[in-house]
Amino acid sequence: MSQSDDRQRDLIASLDFHVEAGLDLFLDEAPHDRFSEAEAPEPMTAPPARPMPLRDAPAPPRPPLPGAGMVLADLPQRGAAPPPARTFGQSAASKPGEAAGDARARARDVQSLDELEALLAGFDGCPLKFTAKNLVFADGNPAAKLMFIGEAPGADEDRVGKPFMGRSGKLLDRMMAAIGLDRTNAYVTNIVPWRPPGNRNPTPQEVSICRPFIERQIELADPDLIVCLGSPATQAITGTKDGILKARGRFYPYRVGSREIRALATLHPAYLLRQPLQKRLAWRDFRTLRAALDGKA
Ligand code: URA
Repeated sequence: MSQSDDRQRDLIASLDFHVEAGLDLFLDEAPHDRFSEAEAPEPMTAPPARPMPLRDAPAPPRPPLPGAGMVLADLPQRGAAPPPARTFGQSAASKPGEAAGDARARARDVQSLDELEALLAGFDGCPLKFTAKNLVFADGNPAAKLMFIGEAPGADEDRVGKPFMGRSGKLLDRMMAAIGLDRTNAYVTNIVPWRPPGNRNPTPQEVSICRPFIERQIELADPDLIVCLGSPATQAITGTKDGILKARGRFYPYRVGSREIRALATLHPAYLLRQPLQKRLAWRDFRTLRAALDGKA
């Protein structure tokens, strides 16, 4: 066996090991501290760190492996020629600040939710788009007076192309049902419409790039009430810096022009799956929500 055969065998063994360990994505050759990279265009309301895990699954470690922007499914089959590597953010706006500015300018132009979805489908300014399978725009009734906003799609949502399809979505549906709601009388979306690879949290830059889109989505859906699910959505929408255990149960004003929409902060269903005892707090919030919908809060 030649040296190059040995090397190939070692590489394949290493790859098999990482696949077995649950790795499904290569990002880059070296780890990045995204928080200290290029500055976001405007001060972020969502801080990079947060006190508790909120996503459905913990992010897997990022190994220093080659193949920037490629998913494992894209890797060459044994013996096959390698496909060309995809690169991130191949749009006119290649820097995060420019991408957010570009997003803002384009979002202003759309006049309906359908146009906004089409705009997002063609928007290449957010790197998450290049690792996600699908755009996850919204689910439920866009004419509803109630809008739920979560953080970012997970694997199930990415596969289906709709928000809150997995375990946390099922819990959200049960919580809604407990106060007489379902997706025919609520509109459901996220602050970021593409799945962050490996279920990691979206970075402040990614949230910032996508922010003009969620703002326009709120404007176009024009709900009377917003429910922010978890800390990142709460901080991004309300601007509060408070942690979710302090912010939850409160209404924050969300301004769209001269109109003020009330935004209620509550715990994320994924967090409740990890901390079932905290459901009592979420139940209080959902009773507050019911009272608000009934004009009693
Ligand atoms: N978690 C979220 O924040 N959003 C989803 O759509 C699914 C899980």
